[in-house]
Amino acid sequence: MKTDRLVAAQIGCGKFAWQQDLKNLSTRSDVMLKWVCDVDPDAARRAAEHFKAPCQTTDFMEIMKDPEVDFIKIATSHEVHLPIIEAAARAGKHIFCEKPMAMTNEEGWKIISAVRRGGVKICVDLNRRMSPAIQALRRQWLAQAADPKHQAWRYIEKQREPLPEENLPHLLIRIQDESSSYGLGHLNPLSGGGEIIGESVHWLDLACWFFAPQLPCEITAWGSSRLSHGIFLRFDRGAGMTLDFSCTGTFDFPKELYEVTDNAALFRSHGFVENTYYGIPGLEPEYFPLQSDPYPEMGQGVDALMRRYLTRVQGCTNAKKLETTVPMIVDKGHIHMLNAFLDAIRKDLPSPCDELAGFRATYLAQRAIEALESKSTLPIPIEKITPCI
Ligand SMILES: NC(=O)c1ccc[n+]([C@@H]2O[C@H](COP(=O)([O-])OP(=O)(O)OC[C@H]3O[C@@H](n4cnc5c(N)ncnc54)[C@H](O)[C@@H]3O)[C@@H](O)[C@H]2O)c1
Repeated sequence: MKTDRLVAAQIGCGKFAWQQDLKNLSTRSDVMLKWVCDVDPDAARRAAEHFKAPCQTTDFMEIMKDPEVDFIKIATSHEVHLPIIEAAARAGKHIFCEKPMAMTNEEGWKIISAVRRGGVKICVDLNRRMSPAIQALRRQWLAQAADPKHQAWRYIEKQREPLPEENLPHLLIRIQDESSSYGLGHLNPLSGGGEIIGESVHWLDLACWFFAPQLPCEITAWGSSRLSHGIFLRFDRGAGMTLDFSCTGTFDFPKELYEVTDNAALFRSHGFVENTYYGIPGLEPEYFPLQSDPYPEMGQGVDALMRRYLTRVQGCTNAKKLETTVPMIVDKGHIHMLNAFLDAIRKDLPSPCDELAGFRATYLAQRAIEALESKSTLPIPIEKITPCI
């Protein structure tokens, strides 16, 4: 087990890297951020200066030649994941890769092959599964499923067995996104792949993690693969996930809402700060701290989050100015994923989100696009989501 500091290199120093990676890697005592890399030399220089990285480059191959580097973090546009991962795996460096791991199934197979041949770990930042609010949601749902409890007043039909489709759990994921205020990154077919590939891999992965060991077996999708869309994913023992992704919303309100219904109970997680549970006697709401909170005195939950938000935007006349204020970030699981990955490297544990999970999310996203374009429900053959490479 490696006990001294792990040496890191950041590849891609854009918006996300500034919000999460560069800050998270440069401020912890068990990691040394040695390299920053961006094809844009100004971006590399700015990141090196601000986060005090001693080495900067525009060519990721320079990093691969440095024997000191233990792992790389990739936060580039999506089309360059494969060459970077292949080079890192050849050089024996572990890989923390932003989602989507791959844009196509073929890229995904090549990535699986590269990391297995290189004997390195890859962690794909499908971070929602590591969010404390979502982990609590699953925990409460599993507890109720194992030992259902009902309100004393509830009338439960005792004179008949449940019908086959009764008591099948369902996960509804509502995303209200605001496409008019972000760049074209995800929308470019060459470097982004559209919102199903760029974003909805998050929720396809989350559903698979949530309902494991059930496996997805059928998918339907509608709308636009580039922007607003819906997906229904069915699992082999009957669970279902409906994703409703709308690009016409507003960042003035929490983007994500998760609702699980099962066995006369509702488990609700809103904005990564508040979980409420209905239909179960005595189950109190749970509240979750923000990852970065400029106003800790303002209390907990969604209403308090809105109060924080309104205070923060008051008097702000442009987005740049807003970005320079102390960030207000809900806990979507990024740091927990990083912690688990570092642990996996140090103790030689399985990756918290490995190459198979990364591939499966891409495969399901591609399959959703096929379903959407052909206006049909498509099977998810088991051999496709468990490739033997
Ligand atoms: N997990 C999440 O919640 C989450 C949230 C936002 C973005 N992301 C992901 O983060 C990644 C980056 O997104 P972003 O919004 O920061 O994009 P961005 O365009 O702001 O940044 C990407 C950077 O990568 C650089 N780059 C491109 N090719 C490169 C190469 N070959 N070598 C080095 N640098 C290269 C670009 O010059 C740019 O500076 C994407 O994969 C995106 O999907 C993840």
